[in-house]
Amino acid sequence: MCGIVGYIGKADAPTVLMNGLRRLEYRGYDSAGIAILDDERVLIAKAPGKVSKLNERAHADWPSSLFQRASTGIAHTRWATHGPPTEVNAHPHLDQSGEIALVHNGIIENYRSIRARLEAKGHHFYSETDTEVLTHLIGDCDKGDLFQAVCDALHQVEGTFGIAVISAREPDKIITARRGSPIVIGVGEGETILASDASAIVAYTQRVIYLDDNDIAIITKDSIDIRDLNNIPVTREIAELAFDAAAAEKGGFDHFMLKEIHEQPESLGNAIRGRLDFNLGSSVLAGMGTSPRDLAELSRIVLVGCGTSLHAGMVGEYAFEDLADVHAEVQQAAEFRYRNPILGSRDMVVAISQSGETADTLAAVREANQKGAFVMSLCNVVGSTIARETGRGVYLHAGPEISVASTKAFTCQVVVLLMMALRLGRGRRFSRDEGIRFAREIESIPMLVAKVVAQNARIAEVAADYAKNEHAFFIGRGPMFPVALEGALKLKEVSYIHAEGYHAAELKHGPIALLEQGTPIIALAVDIPGKDKMLGNIEECRARGARILGVITEGDHETAECMDDFISIPRCHPLVATIPAVVALQLFAYHVARLRGCEIDQPRNLAKSVTVE
Ligand code: AGP
Repeated sequence: MCGIVGYIGKADAPTVLMNGLRRLEYRGYDSAGIAILDDERVLIAKAPGKVSKLNERAHADWPSSLFQRASTGIAHTRWATHGPPTEVNAHPHLDQSGEIALVHNGIIENYRSIRARLEAKGHHFYSETDTEVLTHLIGDCDKGDLFQAVCDALHQVEGTFGIAVISAREPDKIITARRGSPIVIGVGEGETILASDASAIVAYTQRVIYLDDNDIAIITKDSIDIRDLNNIPVTREIAELAFDAAAAEKGGFDHFMLKEIHEQPESLGNAIRGRLDFNLGSSVLAGMGTSPRDLAELSRIVLVGCGTSLHAGMVGEYAFEDLADVHAEVQQAAEFRYRNPILGSRDMVVAISQSGETADTLAAVREANQKGAFVMSLCNVVGSTIARETGRGVYLHAGPEISVASTKAFTCQVVVLLMMALRLGRGRRFSRDEGIRFAREIESIPMLVAKVVAQNARIAEVAADYAKNEHAFFIGRGPMFPVALEGALKLKEVSYIHAEGYHAAELKHGPIALLEQGTPIIALAVDIPGKDKMLGNIEECRARGARILGVITEGDHETAECMDDFISIPRCHPLVATIPAVVALQLFAYHVARLRGCEIDQPRNLAKSVTVE
C-alpha cells in the first residue's frame, strides 16, 4: 500500500523524508515523490519506480544547499489505484495555485463529481488521480487559513484518507488528517515527523501519537494540536513504540522474510510470555475483556480475515471445536461484510489481521458491531485501526513484520488462537489436567520451531530440486489442510510458481487430472489422526507419476519410505504441529524463490497491507 512521511523541524528535511520512504518500501509501491518548502515556494520531485530513482531525481533537480536548509516537507510512495503508476500520477499533488502540496493514502469515492464542479470553476487537472482533485478542493477552500481549508474540503469528500498537506503561504506547519487510512505522529525534540506507519518514525523517536478517524492535526516543529473536523480539540495519548530501529532492519539476513522466519522462536516466545497459567491449566488473555461467564455463554465463534490471516483462522476453527467444544466457523472478510451475516449477542467475531488495517477485515468488524456480536481482534500492529475499533482483543507481539509475505505473524496468530481456545475450553468441559497438558504443549512451541529453523540448510538443498517447476500442489487433512493452503500461498507469493493447496481427499474430485510425471506434491503427512488416509492420498498421486515432498514427524521411518524427499518436524499435539509444519513450508518457499532469483520481500503486484477494497 501507499506510504506517507512528513517532517517539520531543524533542517535536512529531504534526507529525513527519503530515509522514511525507504523504511516504507516493504509496503509495496510503484512510484514515489517528495515536496519541500523553500523560500515561500513548493518544490516537487517525483519518479516512477523505486525511492532510489526519486533520490537521484531530487539531487539532479535541487542544489545540495537546499537539501541542507529545507526544514519542512512531505513524501509518498504510491501503489496505484486511480491511474497507472506514472510520474504524473505520483504524489505529491499541487492545487491550482501551485502553492499547496498534498500526499494521500486511501480513496476519495466522490472525486469525479468534485472534479466536475471544480472544472466548471476553471480548474485544470494534469493527472487521473482522486488525490489531485482533493488538493484542488483544498486550494479552492483556502481563504487564508490552511487548517480551515482542509477541514472544509474534508467535509465534502466521501471515502478514506490519510493525508499530509503543506503550503507556501503557511510554511511553519503541516496539516495531517485521517479517516480509514492510518497516520502516526512522532514526537521529537524540536522536530515532528508523521507517517502512515511507525517504521518510518522509529529512527527519530519512539514517542508516537496515533490519530483516530476524523482527527486533524496542525503540527509544527514544537507542537501537535489535534482537533476533530469540527475544530473541537481532542486529546490523544503519547504511546511508546515497542520496537527500535534495529528491529526494523534485516539483521544480517539477505531478506526480511528469512530474518522473520528465523525470529519465530523469539516472536512465539513473546506471544506466549505471561499468558499461560499452569495452576489453572488455562491462558491469561486480559485484552479479551471477557469473564468466564461471557465465554461460557458463547454459542458460536466466527473467525474473519484475509489471506494468511484467513488461514490462521482456519486452524483456529479446529482448535475452538476440539478444545472448547464450541461451534466455530471461518469466513473470508470480504464475503462476510457483504453477505448480511446472521449474528447475535452470543456470537463472538474474531477479526484476524497482522496490519490491523486491511479494509475488508475492518469492514467486517464494523458489520459485526452493527449486528450486536461480541467482537475482538488479533492484531500485530499496536494502535492499528482494527485493534482500536474493536477495543478488545490480543496483540501478537510478533514485532514488526516487514516482508510482504507473512510468516512470524501467522505462527503468532495460530498460537494466540490456541491460547484463546484453551481459555474457552477451560470454561467448559476441558479439565484442569487436560489444560495443564495443553499449556505445556504450547509452552514447547518455540523450541519445536527452533528445531525446524535449524534445518534451514537442509531445506535449502531440498528446495533446489523444486525451483524449476512451474506448478505445485500442497495437500493436507484436518488442521494440516489450512497449513497446505498457507504453504501454497507462501510459494506462489514469493516464487511466482502456480501453487495450489487442497484438502488431500479433494484431489480425486478433479485436481488429480492435472498430475503428470514429476508434478510436485508437497504433502503434510505428519503423524496425527488421519495419517493413514493421507498416505492413501499420496499413493494415488504417486501412481500418476507425482514427485512427493513430505512434511513428516521425525522418527516416522515408515512414512519417510513413502516420500521422494521429506522434511521432519518434532512430534507434538496435532494442533501444535501446524506451527512447526508451516515453518518448514515457509523455508521451502523462501529458498525456492531465492533460487529463482525473485524479489522475495516485495513481490510484484503485492502490498503488505491492503487498505483498499
Ligand atoms: C500473506 O503473506 C499476504 N501478505 C496476505 O495474504 C495477508 O495475509 C493479507 O493481506 C491479510 O493482511 P493482514 O493480516 O494485515 O490483515
